[in-house]
Amino acid sequence: MTSKTHKVLYKNGDKIAWYPQDGPHSLFFSLGDNQIFHKIGRTVHLREYEEVQKSQRLIPKHLDVRTNHRDHIIAETELSRDHLTPELQLYLITQNCRLWRARPEDSPFYEPFWAFYWPGGQALSRYLFDNRDAVKGRKILDFGTGCGASGLAAKISGAGHVTFNDIDPIATEAVLLNGIKNKIKIDDLSTVNLIGSCCEMFDVLLIGDMLYDTEFADEVLRWLRKEHEKGSVVLIGDPGRFALESHPLKSSLRCLAKYELKASTVLENSGHTQAFVWTFT
Ligand SMILES: C[S@@+](CC[C@H](N)C(=O)[O-])C[C@H]1O[C@@H](n2cnc3c(N)ncnc32)[C@H](O)[C@@H]1O
Repeated sequence: MTSKTHKVLYKNGDKIAWYPQDGPHSLFFSLGDNQIFHKIGRTVHLREYEEVQKSQRLIPKHLDVRTNHRDHIIAETELSRDHLTPELQLYLITQNCRLWRARPEDSPFYEPFWAFYWPGGQALSRYLFDNRDAVKGRKILDFGTGCGASGLAAKISGAGHVTFNDIDPIATEAVLLNGIKNKIKIDDLSTVNLIGSCCEMFDVLLIGDMLYDTEFADEVLRWLRKEHEKGSVVLIGDPGRFALESHPLKSSLRCLAKYELKASTVLENSGHTQAFVWTFT
């Protein structure tokens, strides 16, 4: 996984994270082996993680990403309906925003995944709007919620309760803002790393564009398969990323829907023109 295109972060000699540098916006990242991943998600979580980033000079010391999140989000994004679910107005970094072209050191955010509405998430949300029975009255987990769009789509489609989960606390701030903008009550926010946890309490697990790295996708898919076997419905939105297409569990998935992406999304996600919704058979 490590290569010259990846930055690797170490703490006390342990590899804790690596960041591919060559994806759109250099936003793709994945975390290390299981133990480290769980350590970050459950115990040391983002504070230590951010300190490591700072010590590695990956984000400038003078910018504290934990102050004025909401002000920064509003200032650095624009409200957009230019995606597959125009029902939702979302604070996103678009081509009109300063950060679209800014250098990482000029950004108040470190790797703002939440500021983009990923093609897999768009397809998943579109599917929920078009198939409201999939979530109506159900208890939902939106795993890796980012801007929160899929969870919001579930809520508008009649979900009984939605937990918006993302290990990036700034994402949860963006979810709150997007909830307010769309007049949707946010039931529950979580920044816990749930991978490997029992999620039997959820009827439906929403997975919007989380399969962007082969090792990470393997961990996520094996966990999801177990949750499916225990009874949760797993809905995966994905634009045909290699990590899913090449995974052995792909043959256990059934395609529920296929959508053509909008031109602006195609531009942001070089190579992907469609996105799909999958569920385990
Ligand atoms: C590619 S974005 C997808 C966001 C959103 N689902 C969408 O489709 O627009 C991946 C998101 O997953 C979050 N993430 C990564 N690892 C996670 C984990 N173990 N648990 C929860 N969220 C995670 C990131 O912070 C990021 O917001």
